[in-house]
Amino acid sequence: MHLIIINFVKLYNFVKNTPISKDLVDQIVANSGINNLGTASIREIKKLINQIEDKSNTKFIRMEMGIPGIPASQIGVNAQIEALKNGCAAIYPDIDGTPELKNEMSRFIKNYLDLDISPSGCIPTVGSMMGGMAGFMTFSRARKGRDTTLFIDPGFPVQKQQHRVLGLKYESFDVYDFRGELLKDKVESYLMKGNVHSIIYSNPNNPSWICFTEKELQIIGELANKYEVCVFEDLAYFGMDFRNDISKPGQPPYQPTVGKYTDNYALLISSSKAFSYAGERIGMLVLSDHLFNQEFPDLIPYFGTPIFGRAIIYGTVYAISSGTSHSAQYALAAILKACNEGKYNFLDEVKVYGEKAKKMKKIFIDNGFSIVYDKDEDKPLADGFYFTIAYPDLTGEQLLKEFLYYGISAITLTITGSERTEGLRACVSLIPFEQIPVLEERLTIFRENH
Ligand SMILES: Cc1ncc(COP(=O)(O)O)c(C=O)c1O
Repeated sequence: MHLIIINFVKLYNFVKNTPISKDLVDQIVANSGINNLGTASIREIKKLINQIEDKSNTKFIRMEMGIPGIPASQIGVNAQIEALKNGCAAIYPDIDGTPELKNEMSRFIKNYLDLDISPSGCIPTVGSMMGGMAGFMTFSRARKGRDTTLFIDPGFPVQKQQHRVLGLKYESFDVYDFRGELLKDKVESYLMKGNVHSIIYSNPNNPSWICFTEKELQIIGELANKYEVCVFEDLAYFGMDFRNDISKPGQPPYQPTVGKYTDNYALLISSSKAFSYAGERIGMLVLSDHLFNQEFPDLIPYFGTPIFGRAIIYGTVYAISSGTSHSAQYALAAILKACNEGKYNFLDEVKVYGEKAKKMKKIFIDNGFSIVYDKDEDKPLADGFYFTIAYPDLTGEQLLKEFLYYGISAITLTITGSERTEGLRACVSLIPFEQIPVLEERLTIFRENH
């Protein structure tokens, strides 16, 4: 009887205190067509939150989608307008990119990663999403019998979606329990089977914001050499491990990269977050000179050439998009030129993400939450674009559902290949500083009700 009364009081308070009516949320979720919130895609969650905001007239703390929260680089916008005025819209761009952009990409790689890459291996793509897709499509044909990509998860769900729509195979594991030396045996256990052509991971990592240490990058690089696999290093959050300031061109420290430990690599560098240029869909696919010139006879039936660089440009990129928006290439070239000449510190503009993450993480922790992925080996994690959270005794799916009553949105870690079923990914980019006290208010009520 006593327990029933406590539960009744809890329920009563819970319904009374939630910022958005539970009944309303339940009704919208029921009508949304989403069968399982825990496995719903980011775009489905986004649509659901739009509906709840609309019907409840309550603004959410929107942490579900990684949209840049700051204006696009002005240098890029000006150069793009100028290029359009000069008539570039009427002309097909070269498939492998404009010479000026390729040169600036090569310089950028030298200045910020300390790697030597010829302009020929620097290829603009329609977002770095396309760079990855072109890479997987080509590499999966490079050697008969090597038909599988290995994802070091958690990861960006769309890259697995690319594999599914292309009918390509992949395997994956959650790196949570395999940091440091433990990574070696784990990765090797996949590579020794002989079916893997490539490894992919993001660094800093979406969704967990872990950053591989030099030791871990060395392990991955050495295994790539031993088993002759290609490493796709996704640097969508280039330079955003704010523990190291890599913003000075040509001076250490540099963005850490597997390219220091192997020649079998391709880099995917997005303009979306570093330069807030998501809308123009331009990214960089960068092939090491070794990979660019490498010959794989098994490519010939598909591409008419065994040379990887030629196959990916004149076979895959040509087939997918026939190059990348001409004006956006002028924009990116201007941004990179300004970076290379030390005239534009792009990290100054994005470090606000780290400041927000620091404040928001503290509020979560003060209200009983824990950070799921919390360390890089023995070092506390950096503050950046994303962080991961869990609440005692709730699964990620339950927490996501509960959050809806409190006007807070996120995505479950489950859809990112994480095995931490208790967790959610929180993205800080769309939360203005003024909204952080609202987050605190809502989480205080949440804690009281739990
Ligand atoms: C890890 C990762 N890779 C790639 C992308 C996509 O980048 P782009 O906009 O350049 O296609 C994102 C965007 O969120 C990402 O998080």
